[in-house]
Formats: sequence, structure tokens, C-alpha cells
Amino acid sequence: MSETRTALVTGASRGIGLVVAQELLRRGVRVFATGRDQARLETLQRETGCGISVRDLSRTEEVLSLYEEAKTHLGSAPDILVNNAGFYRKSPLVEASLEEFEDQYAVLLRAPFLLCREAGRDMQARGSGHIVNVLTTCVLFANENLGIYTAMKTGFQGLTKVLIKEMRPFGVKVTAVYPGGVDTDVRPYPRPDYLRPETAGRLIADVFFAPEDAVIHDLVFRPMCESNF
Ligand SMILES: NC(=O)c1ccc[n+]([C@@H]2O[C@H](COP(=O)([O-])OP(=O)(O)OC[C@H]3O[C@@H](n4cnc5c(N)ncnc54)[C@H](OP(=O)(O)O)[C@@H]3O)[C@@H](O)[C@H]2O)c1
Repeated sequence: MSETRTALVTGASRGIGLVVAQELLRRGVRVFATGRDQARLETLQRETGCGISVRDLSRTEEVLSLYEEAKTHLGSAPDILVNNAGFYRKSPLVEASLEEFEDQYAVLLRAPFLLCREAGRDMQARGSGHIVNVLTTCVLFANENLGIYTAMKTGFQGLTKVLIKEMRPFGVKVTAVYPGGVDTDVRPYPRPDYLRPETAGRLIADVFFAPEDAVIHDLVFRPMCESNF
């Protein structure tokens, strides 16, 4: 495939998503980057010239208008969709509030479902495209205090596995990414023993540059310090 591909990347203001966006841009992909932090997105735009949009993906109407804005900016539906935006709130399940459940549901499951549906339709019609959904190794291993996050990401895993099958006959690739610990601002304390965001972002971006005749369905990676498998 030529390097004139286009991409919509969520959660691109920082962490793993920022590196994915930077890596795709560096390799010639035209990127439309989104997040909530306007200042960080403007810095990325200044440095790279990419398109940006400030959106809160917990709001359904913003998810849908984001996709339309991306199509307008890129000139047509994106060739690549990276569903990366996410966060978690830690608590034992018996102490978790309904609000925590609904907040994580909205961003970790509903928003990527809507983007997969919208982009999936367009990619099916075009007969090509690639969707990467960022899950977590938490879905492969039960972690105390991450019950809601694990539930939403496991739901997203189920959606992704079905999408892999439904999109295949149309020539559309779908990849489930399972990162282990990455040292980002997703947690309020540093984890220097975890992967650098540059490492995680590069590994994810590499998925789009695999040989044309192969599809990577699952990508699992962890820092060497992790043994939760
Ligand atoms: N770090 C890890 O150890 C790890 C491990 C496995 C999986 N993951 C997954 O990897 C993905 C990226 O995580 P990260 O570590 O890079 O986290 P991060 O540094 O905290 O970045 C999270 C990104 O998601 C965006 N985001 C969060 N809530 C949003 C909302 N309501 N609307 C729009 N954007 C929103 C943030 O945007 P703003 O900052 O602009 O609000 C930010 O760009 C997440 O899905 C996470 O679950 C992370």
C-alpha cells in the first residue's frame, strides 16, 4: 500500500496514542489526532502539521461528529482507525460506584464501538482498511481493583474478535493489541520498570507496515518485569 494512507487516532494527546500518531506521521501517513487536551494537540499539530480535534469521547454525539470531521479533514474515510483512548479508576468491585462503571463504559466500550461501526462501514464499502483496537493484558489475567476496566476491555475484546471475522471478507484488517504495563500518565505515579510509551507506540504502529499479504490479529507485548501470564 502506498504511503498516502490516512489515519484517525484517538487518545493522541499523550502517552501511547501520541507516539502512534507521531510514528504514523513519520512514516508518511496523514493523521487526524484527537483527545481532550487542546494545548497538547496544538503542540502536535505545530510539530507535524497533522489535523487535530478536541473531543470528549464519553459523549456519544462528540464521537459521531469526530468521525465526520475526520472524513472531511482527510478528504474521505480514514484508511486506518486506532481506538486507543482510555483511562481507568482503581477500586475493589464492592466499593465501585455506578458513575465509575458508566464513565469507563462510555470511553472504553461505547466510543470505540461507534467508531468501529462508522469506519467499518466505510472500509467495507472501499474494500480495504485497518482497525487497531488497544485492549490490555488485563483481559488475559484477573487483576484485583481493576474489575470495571477489565470488564469494559474484555467487552471490547469480544467486539474486536467478532469484527476480525466480519471485516475479513471485505479485505479489511482488524488487530487486537494487548499491551502490558507502559509508563504513562494513565497512573498517577511513575513505573520506570514498565515499557516506555515510545516502545509501545512503535510496536503498535509497526502493525500497519506488516507485509501486505499478512494480517496481525493479536499483538501481545509486556515489559520483562511482568509475569502475569
Ligand atoms: N499504560 C499502560 O500501562 C497500559 C496498559 C495496557 C493498555 N493500555 C491502554 O492504552 C491506551 C492508552 O493509554 P496510555 O497509557 O497512553 O494513557 P494516557 O497517557 O493516560 O493517555 C490516555 C489518552 O486517552 C485520552 N482520553 C482519555 N479519556 C478520554 C475521553 N473521555 N475523551 C477523549 N479522550 C480521552 C487522553 O486524552 P486527554 O489527555 O487529552 O484527555 C489521552 O490522550 C488506553 O486505552 C489504555 O487502557 C495502557
